[in-house]
Amino acid sequence: MKALVLSGGAGTRLRPITHTSAKQLVPVANKPVLFYGLEAIADAGITDVGIVVGDTAEEIREAVGDGSRFGVKITYIPQEAPRGLAHAVLISRDFLGDEDFVMYLGDNFIVGGITGLVDGFREARPDAQILLTQVPDPTSFGVAELDGNGRVVALEEKPAVPKSDLALVGVYLFTPAVHEAVRAIEPSWRGELEITHAIQWLIDQKHDVHSTTISGYWKDTGNVTDMLEVNRAVLETVEPCEDGTVDEASEIIGRVRIEAGARVVRSRIVGPAIIGADTVISDAYVGPYTSVSERCRIEDSEIEYSIVLRDASIAGVRRVEASLIGRGVEVTPAPRNPAAHRLVLGDHSKVQISS
Ligand code: DAU
Repeated sequence: MKALVLSGGAGTRLRPITHTSAKQLVPVANKPVLFYGLEAIADAGITDVGIVVGDTAEEIREAVGDGSRFGVKITYIPQEAPRGLAHAVLISRDFLGDEDFVMYLGDNFIVGGITGLVDGFREARPDAQILLTQVPDPTSFGVAELDGNGRVVALEEKPAVPKSDLALVGVYLFTPAVHEAVRAIEPSWRGELEITHAIQWLIDQKHDVHSTTISGYWKDTGNVTDMLEVNRAVLETVEPCEDGTVDEASEIIGRVRIEAGARVVRSRIVGPAIIGADTVISDAYVGPYTSVSERCRIEDSEIEYSIVLRDASIAGVRRVEASLIGRGVEVTPAPRNPAAHRLVLGDHSKVQISS
């Protein structure tokens, strides 16, 4: 069995964090969301992995490399434009050959991995298997309609009026039957070859399509509240370690990972939290559910339930909560006079000032 990971896309969506990088590289507990997918694939015993890449190919290649760190072999498959998930399958025909495969969307996060799912598929071997999850607003997903026995009867891509609250999760299992389906369908109203339509085609042709409903699912929507929540959930499972240095005047409480080269000076850290490599925390408080990436500086400040991306610094500010601080950002107090906020904010930034 092979895996096809979709990490293409234009990379031009202006969101607070993905605006300068691939959305599949958005970090969760200091690790790109794509890496959790690759680890889940490796855990399921799949070693031959194709990654479909688009505009952000360079960044993805740089982050993932040849896959040896995940114990898999990566083949990069360039897609000249994001023509749809089924188009990605179409152009991967040579790589996939006649093997069964799992298709994994690189911006999706599945709590608990996919091993059970892959094992189940190998055993029952339906023509295709989809994953579903209940979501509050299904209009931005593919949506499934099931009959009384839980069988999939119809699928719709991003319906204005959804027939259920069961969204398609970005992990699909296919036999080679899908290749005929992706060749048979036409582009949708948004000009994409939709995998949803290919699966509908399989259903219409009386192929066997199974579904499994899961909980514990997240995808990068650029929504900061969701990102903080998934970060919180993953931090709960982080293995504590102290590879950096902590001075005598500091206190570390609970599940805290202090990575190599990090220094904690006269500070208090209450886990779960991660302090990234070469980051310096001094005269500061880092509270629960905080991920600080590498080479950051947190000085004379308090921060809790937040994500700080690499090379950012926060110094001399009282308290930061529920925040997402981008790469290389500097947060400092303003000089006393005049009492004014001085802001240099990128496109689509959001600031809440307590004054
Ligand atoms: O995340 C689950 C949803 O993913 C499903 O509920 C939908 O049915 C499915 O169509 C898909 O919807 P999105 O519109 O959210 O997909 P998106 O364009 O964000 O692409 C998903 C991933 O696939 C992302 O990592 C980018 C990559 N991609 C996307 C396209 C359109 C490619 O590699 N090539 C492409 O042509």
